[in-house]
Amino acid sequence: MKICCIGAGYVGGPTMAVIADRCPDVTVNVVDMNQSRVDAWNSDSLPVYEPGLDAVVKRARGRNLFFTCEIDQQIEQADIIFVSVNTPTKTYGIGAGFAADLSFVELCARRIAQVARGNKTVVEKSTLPVRTAESLRRVLHANSNGYRFEVLSNPEFLAEGTAVADLEQPDRVLIGGDDTPTGRAALQSLVDLYARWVPRERILTTNVWSSELSKLFSNAMLAQRVSSVNALSALCEATGADVDEVANAAGSDSRIGRKFLKASVGFGGSCFQKDILNLVYLCDHYGLREPAEYWRQVVAMNDWQKSRFVKRMVDTMFNTVSGKRIAILGFAFKKDTNDTRASAAIDVCSGLLAENAELFIVDPKVPAETIFADLERATGKSRDVLASRVRCEPDVYQATRDAHAIAVMTEWTQFKTLEFQRIYDQMQKPAFVFDGRGIIPHAALTAIGFEVYALGKPAPALAQ
Ligand code: UDX
Ligand code: UDX
Repeated sequence: MKICCIGAGYVGGPTMAVIADRCPDVTVNVVDMNQSRVDAWNSDSLPVYEPGLDAVVKRARGRNLFFTCEIDQQIEQADIIFVSVNTPTKTYGIGAGFAADLSFVELCARRIAQVARGNKTVVEKSTLPVRTAESLRRVLHANSNGYRFEVLSNPEFLAEGTAVADLEQPDRVLIGGDDTPTGRAALQSLVDLYARWVPRERILTTNVWSSELSKLFSNAMLAQRVSSVNALSALCEATGADVDEVANAAGSDSRIGRKFLKASVGFGGSCFQKDILNLVYLCDHYGLREPAEYWRQVVAMNDWQKSRFVKRMVDTMFNTVSGKRIAILGFAFKKDTNDTRASAAIDVCSGLLAENAELFIVDPKVPAETIFADLERATGKSRDVLASRVRCEPDVYQATRDAHAIAVMTEWTQFKTLEFQRIYDQMQKPAFVFDGRGIIPHAALTAIGFEVYALGKPAPALAQ
C-alpha cells in the first residue's frame, strides 16, 4: 500500500511518521510545497519539536517514510491521500474572522483530480467545517477524468507536545465515510491501517458529517473548560479563594474530571479558537443565534483573560510599565512545542508593548525569528521598531537582569526550578512576578522577597 500526505506540518509530519513506524510495509510519502520545510524534515533538525518524534522519524525515514516536494508524482502513485494542509480563519470577504479559509484544501482537491491516474481514497485530516467533504467530493468528481474518489473524514486529535504518545495510544480514532459499497470499502481500508496498532474498539466509524462535527465539538468542549476555569480565576482573585483548590475539589467529581482545569493566561494553539469560530459560523449559518452566541463567549472569555492579565500587571506596577524591563518566560502556546500559533504570549506582549514596556523574551524552543514575525503581525510595528524594544534572550539570568517584573507565559518545566534567589538579587525592587501558568513555587519566591501575583490566587499581603 502507498500513502501520500499533502502537508508536512505539525499534524501531517508526526501522524505520517507514526503510521510509517507502525506499518513498515506501507510506503508513506509526505509532500509539501514548502521546500525549506521538506529539507528540515530530511535533516537532523526537524521543523516540529515534539518529545519522542526524532526517534520515530529516524527509524522510518528512508525506509518507508519520505519527505519530498514532488507533489504530483506522489499523488499519482498513492492509494490513499491524506490532506493535511492548514485551514486558517478567513481574513477576507464573507465570514472573515470566523469561517475557515478552504482555499488550500480546494487547491489540493483540484490537483488530485488533475493528476490522478486511477481510483483514490482521499482523507480529510485537516480540521474542516462540517460538509467540507461534500465540497471536496464535488471538486474531485467535476474534474475526475473518469476515476472514482472516495472521501473520508479522519480528524486528528493529537495535542502538540504529546503528539507521539497521542498517535501511538489514542483515546480514539475517528473515521467518517459514506454508507455506500465503495464508501464502506474505503472506510474499511483505513480502519485496517489503524487497527495494526490501535485496539479495534477504539476505532470509531461514523458518517462523514458526524466525524467532521465531532472534531469541532471536541475542541470547543476542551476550550470551554479552560474558559470556565479562567472565569473562575478572576472570581478567586476577587474573593480570596484559591483556583487550584476549587478546580481540584470540582475535578474530583468523576463526572467532571480533573483534566483541562488548569487556569492560564489563555488558551492558544492553532485549533481551539479556529474551531470554535467555525462552530459559531456554522450555527449562524443555520440561523441558530443562541448556540452561536454560547460558543462565541468561550473565545470572548479567553480574550478577556489575556487583556486582564496585562491590566493586572500595569495596575500592580504603579499604573505604568513605560520604559520598564519585563522578562517574558515562555512564548510557545504550551510547553514541549515550538509552535506559537495563537499563543497567549503574543497578545500579552503586544499589550505590554502598547504600554511602552521593554521586553526580554526567553523560550527554550521558539527561535527569535518566529517571535519577531508574530509580534510584527500582532502589533503592526516594523522589525526595526520592535528590535528597539524587544530582545530574545536564550539565558533566563540575562533576561531577568535589572528587570522590574517577570511574566510566566508558558509552563516549561525548566522554569519551575530556576535559581530564584540569584534572579531576585539582580532585579529591580519591588521584584514583581506574574505567574500566568501557576507553575512556579509561590511560597518560596515570597519568602525570598518577590511580590508574586498568580492567576486565581489572592494578591500578596504588602508590607506598609
Ligand atoms: C493542521 C491541520 O491541517 C489544521 O486543519 C488543523 O486545524 C491544525 O493542524 P498544521 O499541520 O498544524 O495544520 O499546519 P501547518 O503546520 O501550517 O502545516 C501545513 C503544511 O501544508 C505547511 O507545511 C504548508 O507548506 C503545506 N501546504 C499548504 C501545502 O503543501 N500545500 C498547500 O496548498 C497549502
Ligand atoms: C488541541 C486538542 O487537545 C487536540 O485534541 C486537537 O487535535 C488539537 O487541539 P493542542 O491545541 O495541541 O490540542 O493543545 P492542548 O493541550 O489542547 O492545549 C490548548 C491550549 O489550552 C494551550 O494553550 C494550553 O496551554 C491551554 N490549556 C490546556 C490551559 O490553559 N489549561 C488547561 O487546563 C489545558
